Amino acid sequence: MYFNKIRHPANFVFSARPASVENLGGDVHRLRLRGAKPWKNPSQAELATTIAGESRHSVAVTKDNGLSLTESATGRSLLSGFPGATFGTCGSAWMLQFRHTAGLEFYGLGEHNKGLEKSGQRVKFWNTDLWADFSIFEIRHGHPNPMYVAIPWLIVKQGNDYLGILVNHPGAVFMDLASSFIWSADNPDDRNRGSFYLGAPDGEPDVYIIVGPSLPELTRKLQQLVGRTPLPPLWALGHHQCRWGYASAKDLQSLDRKFTEHRIPTDGLWLDIDYMDRYKVFTFDAKHWGNSTQLRSSLAALAKKGRRVIPILDPGVKVEPGYVVQDGGLKAGIFCLNPAGQPYIGFVWPGKTYFPDFSLPEARSWWAAHVKDFARLGVAGAWLDMNDPSVGNAELDDMLFDHGRQPHEYYHNQYALGMAKASHEGFLAARPDERPFLLARSAFISSSRYTAVWTGDNVANWHHLRTSIPLSIGLALSGQPFNGPDVCGFADDTNPALAVAWYKAGFLFPFLRNHSMLNSRQQEPWALGASALKIISHYIRLRYKLLPYLYQNFIAQEQTGEAILRPLFYDYADTAALPLSKIGDQFMVGRDLLQAPVVEENTRDRQVVLPGAHRWFSAQDGRWLDGGRTHATSAGPVETPLYFREGALVPMQIGERTTQKNDLGKIELHCFLRRDSSASATSTYAFDDGLSFAYQKGKRTTATFTARVEDGALVLTVDNYQPGFGPLSVQVMLHDRFQSVVFVHKGRRQSLPLTSARVKLTGRALSVKCTALKKIG
Ligand code: NOJ
Repeated sequence: MYFNKIRHPANFVFSARPASVENLGGDVHRLRLRGAKPWKNPSQAELATTIAGESRHSVAVTKDNGLSLTESATGRSLLSGFPGATFGTCGSAWMLQFRHTAGLEFYGLGEHNKGLEKSGQRVKFWNTDLWADFSIFEIRHGHPNPMYVAIPWLIVKQGNDYLGILVNHPGAVFMDLASSFIWSADNPDDRNRGSFYLGAPDGEPDVYIIVGPSLPELTRKLQQLVGRTPLPPLWALGHHQCRWGYASAKDLQSLDRKFTEHRIPTDGLWLDIDYMDRYKVFTFDAKHWGNSTQLRSSLAALAKKGRRVIPILDPGVKVEPGYVVQDGGLKAGIFCLNPAGQPYIGFVWPGKTYFPDFSLPEARSWWAAHVKDFARLGVAGAWLDMNDPSVGNAELDDMLFDHGRQPHEYYHNQYALGMAKASHEGFLAARPDERPFLLARSAFISSSRYTAVWTGDNVANWHHLRTSIPLSIGLALSGQPFNGPDVCGFADDTNPALAVAWYKAGFLFPFLRNHSMLNSRQQEPWALGASALKIISHYIRLRYKLLPYLYQNFIAQEQTGEAILRPLFYDYADTAALPLSKIGDQFMVGRDLLQAPVVEENTRDRQVVLPGAHRWFSAQDGRWLDGGRTHATSAGPVETPLYFREGALVPMQIGERTTQKNDLGKIELHCFLRRDSSASATSTYAFDDGLSFAYQKGKRTTATFTARVEDGALVLTVDNYQPGFGPLSVQVMLHDRFQSVVFVHKGRRQSLPLTSARVKLTGRALSVKCTALKKIG
């Protein structure tokens, strides 16, 4: 009953309480207020304790229970509470209430499926197995919330100033973002009218208030606080094929043959639960895989062909005496207990299951040791599912942590984080020199240090395609940049038009995996008819062509915390003349590439907002379009509206990519400048072995390119060329006619041979004409 209801300030007592406000640097302020009962925060998110940079704002909690965040130099207020009604308690619950001033907008909220902007939403943060908690009708056509990932992070936008509020609490957290019930005009006596508030049913508030003031700065600070996403192996950025039902070596070998036959690059082949012996975690069914020598040799043979096998790992351990994982877990005493002091039992695929208590360091080590052995079989990564945790018909409240001492509530939202940490440790133990890749369904604050996430069980329909964009952007702005949906849709039957549209929209999302449900229509690229196959193949190949660019974005995430998938207002100011803040069907991939996919059924026309005081190169027809306005566009069956920023230098792999064999040391550098461009373009390109940590010890090649136009000639300068990982070969690609190209390196100027100058990237045939080749070094 009332599953989604949250607390109301009417039932809270607001009284002044001693507060501690700590400035961590960089305008990150930690606010701790004494709650109703003394409490040790059980959050295992391991947040940073100092943040680089200056603080230009201060937070004051006043004696009369008010709060204000002000710019120190000017006294300008960015956020304020209500004197006498800011910090409240209600039994063991607490809340912080802020003034809702005109023009505020809200974003973020982790995985939240109700549009890009969140005003008026009432939100609960509670990792949820959607299919267990919502009806299929609500899932198919609605916006079930809460979802799998709980990251209590709220972005508050006022004009082009951004601040964020993070609640570091692993139990349920709630937020009311000025829902009309609270601030309705026909409720004049309600002194809380005009507020937005957040809180938790239990514990002591541990709240971070961060001032951007720009959205990129805010995002970078959040990532610094919660941990940036480490650079994944390059193969993880490729195309992945999954389906509930793939079970055997034969299934994967057949996929390998088909991808080869159709010349579709694909790195990841995924195994869902059917590869296991009766769904027992850390087992392979001998009937499908033979003995362990045969298993290893099948995995090794696939790896040799460049196919990485990623099996699913569920946390639930089958209750079966004699099964070594169960026996070992019981003996080690690492399973969650119930209030009767017995190991807690839930119901997942194997039937009755025990659950490792990932809150315990010894349970994490125990799990990591199993993962280490598992990884050594030759699997490339792991897919961490059902980690919400999903327990079937059993009662979650009966699942206790810390040998039965801690209530479920105190650990629920970080169960997936504990599993992620332990699995990460296991892969590192098995292969210390390799960057692990893990994908998880649920996550908490700081999970992105260990796992990418996919957005769980979506449905093959146009509503889910449309909502996948704001959903992934929300995650990206909430500290979970490596994410993506099940492309083509997981449940129900997809169809060729939808599958094609989904690939066109999603082919550059940070994570790209085609996954579908048991017994649904087959949706591998070749299962949808010849025309769909052709178009889908094209977009997968185009992703591989753009891998060097995607890789740069992941490098930037690791180095500075920059978002990868972004809303338009990340890089561009939101103005009255060109409002950007509610555009949820367009997005940027990095700074240079804008997509406006067609996400309506039976439609080819749409409006595209191109921001900025510069032009955009339209990849589908090679035209240059003015920024700062809206354009009408039409995309044929093959094309998708895709634009490159004037002033960008975009690295791509050479030619059309038809295998997953990548060479980031030979690139086309696409120069998006025109003869009359006044801007200069600068970008640093870096590559390494794409797999190990050697780049951290200097085994990485980097070069900084600057391009500008000088009397009709394009002048391309290379600086800081450091071939730490071998030479870089660059083919300069022009997108306008220049009289000549002058290449400058170490002060030497040299004219390059010049041919024609037009590129068409998303047409039926990928045709790249202009080449001016120059080897560096
Ligand atoms: C639930 C996951 O969300 C889904 O992707 C998977 O196919 C099923 N579990 C079966 O393992």
